[in-house]
Amino acid sequence: MYTIYPILLNHKKYRDMKTIFITGASSGIGKATAKLFQAKGWKVIATMRTPENETELTALENVSILPLDVTNDAQIQSTAQSAIASGNIDVVLNNAGHGLFGPLEAVSGEQILKQVNTNFLGPLKVIQAFIPYFREKKSGLFINTTSMAGLTGFPLSSVYNSTKWALEGLSECLSIELSMFGIGVKTVSPDATKTNLFSSADVVAHPLYDDVIKKMIGRIQQTGEAINIAEVIFEAATDGKDQLRYPAGGAAKQIYARRLDIGPEASRIETTKWFLGL
Ligand SMILES: NC(=O)c1ccc[n+]([C@@H]2O[C@H](COP(=O)([O-])OP(=O)(O)OC[C@H]3O[C@@H](n4cnc5c(N)ncnc54)[C@H](OP(=O)(O)O)[C@@H]3O)[C@@H](O)[C@H]2O)c1
Repeated sequence: MYTIYPILLNHKKYRDMKTIFITGASSGIGKATAKLFQAKGWKVIATMRTPENETELTALENVSILPLDVTNDAQIQSTAQSAIASGNIDVVLNNAGHGLFGPLEAVSGEQILKQVNTNFLGPLKVIQAFIPYFREKKSGLFINTTSMAGLTGFPLSSVYNSTKWALEGLSECLSIELSMFGIGVKTVSPDATKTNLFSSADVVAHPLYDDVIKKMIGRIQQTGEAINIAEVIFEAATDGKDQLRYPAGGAAKQIYARRLDIGPEASRIETTKWFLGL
């Protein structure tokens, strides 16, 4: 059911098209990116945990669906190999992600493992699976969806932020390490965007933090549109620039620019006052 047809896809018409491989394409930013790249004339390999539920992307020409849970090591290997066997891949977008919000002392070990496995180790292993392929063809681009939470500290999302900081750090290291093989690495860090991220997140409470949580809810709104983040991902994929970070959306650009402007210590103090409403 999920087979890509290698003979068909090796036809010249299809060989000349660029291809993006996307994780977490079932909703939100991943799905918007799949649709945008398809509309721009790319082939799209859209991966997701439950391909059997997908109806929109399956109706689009040049979009293939493959199963991928990024916490499943064996499936990362088999899906990467199926994708590579189907033809040329130009961009791998690590987009799949999950939210975990609440005070650290209330978060369970299981929730922490799920967060780290989904948001950090998953993308890391997907990258590992594609490096030899990109190295051999001396080209290829990894784009990792991080977050403005990966560029600064926030209260009550310490584990989520940590996974995104880790992915930013991994991306910066690999942008240096893989440059010798002609492989690029970029990050796109969205601001709060209208997707399922918050509604599907694990949210934990603790009575001592209730006042802070109320203040935060009043201050963080998912106002951005997924299509705008997809457009930044398209820019990162096609601008040919040797640039690592692409903050996406007004708040992400503003927060990152302010941090660079005043430095991380002053930024931390300013962020504390802003979040706590001081
Ligand atoms: N929305 C925001 O405000 C925001 C801000 C900054 C960064 N981001 C980042 O943007 C990325 C996309 O999130 P989104 O906002 O578009 O939220 P979303 O609509 O909830 O999409 C998340 C996607 O990740 C998938 N996913 C979750 N766990 C997975 C796993 N173990 N294996 C494979 N796929 C998995 C989900 O698949 P299922 O349908 O199977 O659950 C879904 O397709 C995430 O990395 C997120 O951290 C979002």
